[in-house]
Amino acid sequence: MARNPYLPMTAEVVERIEEAPDVYTLRVRLRHAAERAAYRFAPGQFNMLYLFGVGEVPISISSDPDEHELVDHTIRAVGRVTEGLVRLGPGARLGLRGPFGTGWPFAVAQGRALLMITGGLGCAPTNSAIEYAIKRRSQYGPITIAHGVKRPQDLIYGARFAAWEKAPDTRVLLSADRPDPNWRGRSGLVTALLDEIDPGLIRDGFTLMCGPEPMMRSVAENLLKRGAALERIYLSLERNMQCALGHCGNCQFGKEFLCKDGPVFPYARVRALLPVGGY
Ligand SMILES: Cc1cc2nc3c(=O)[nH]c(=O)nc-3n(C[C@H](O)[C@H](O)[C@H](O)COP(=O)(O)OP(=O)(O)OC[C@H]3O[C@@H](n4cnc5c(N)ncnc54)[C@H](O)[C@@H]3O)c2cc1C
Ligand code: FES
Repeated sequence: MARNPYLPMTAEVVERIEEAPDVYTLRVRLRHAAERAAYRFAPGQFNMLYLFGVGEVPISISSDPDEHELVDHTIRAVGRVTEGLVRLGPGARLGLRGPFGTGWPFAVAQGRALLMITGGLGCAPTNSAIEYAIKRRSQYGPITIAHGVKRPQDLIYGARFAAWEKAPDTRVLLSADRPDPNWRGRSGLVTALLDEIDPGLIRDGFTLMCGPEPMMRSVAENLLKRGAALERIYLSLERNMQCALGHCGNCQFGKEFLCKDGPVFPYARVRALLPVGGY
C-alpha cells in the first residue's frame, strides 16, 4: 500500500552544529532502515520537518546528495517551530516528510559554467548543489560562488567556502555590506561582486540563485544587462507552506504552487510576478 504522504517518518538528530548565533545545522538520520535505504534527494529539494506537538516547517536539504544516510538542514530560529528545532540535540526525535519540490536543473546545465549567487542563509539550498557539481567537475565549466552577507558574523559555512576555493576551476567571492577590520572578503552588496566575474562566464553560464527576493531580482536584472541568457537564470523561492503536496494552496504564487512547481524556478517564469505585492 502506498505510504500516506501526510505521515512523517521519524528521524533522530545525530549532530547539532552551531553555524552562527541563531543558525544551526541539524544532521539527522531516519530511524527505520527501509526508509533510510529508500530516501534519495536532488540538490535544491526540501523536507518538511515536524517538531512534535508544535508544528511543521519547510527546510532545504543542505547536505551532499550522494550522502543519504545523514541529511543536513541549516535552520535560522525565527519563530515557534524553528526556535524549537534548533534546540534539539543529539538523540532527539523529529518528524520528516520529503523530499519535496523541484531541484536545480543540473541536467540542462551540463557543459556550462556555473554561477552560484547567494545572500544570507540563501547559501543553504545551494550548498548541496555546490557539492554535487564539484563531485562531477568534468561535466561543468568553471564554478563561481558569489555570496553576500550583511555583517561578517552572519557568514555561515566558513570552512566549506575555504574548501570549495581549493576545488579545481572554482572561485569563491565573498562580500559583506558592513565589513569589520578583520573581514578578508570584499565590501558592499553581492551585486558588486558581478564586476569581478568574467563577462564570458556570465553570458554563457548557468546561474543558480538563492537569498532575499529583492537581492535575487536585482542580481538577475543586472546579469541580463550584462548579456546573460534569461532562460539560464534560476532561483529558489520561499513562501509559507502547510501540505507541501499542492493541496492546501498556502504557497500559491500566481498559477504556480511553490511546493510542487518550485521552489526552484526559471527566472523567466516568475519575473513578472516577483515585483507584485501580495504574491
Ligand atoms: C522551500 C523552503 C525552504 C526553506 N528552507 C529553509 C532553510 O533551509 N533554513 C531556514 O532556516 N528556513 C528555511 N525556510 C523558511 C522556514 O520554513 C521558515 O522560517 C519557517 O517556516 C518559520 O516557521 P516558524 O514557526 O519558526 O516561524 P513563524 O512563527 O511561522 O514565523 C516567524 C516569522 O517568519 C516569517 N516566515 C515564516 N515562514 C516564512 C517563509 N517561508 N519565508 C519568509 N518568512 C517566513 C513569518 O512571517 C514571521 O514573521 C524555507 C522555506 C521554504 C518555503
Ligand atoms: S504547501 Fe500546500 S499547496 Fe503548497
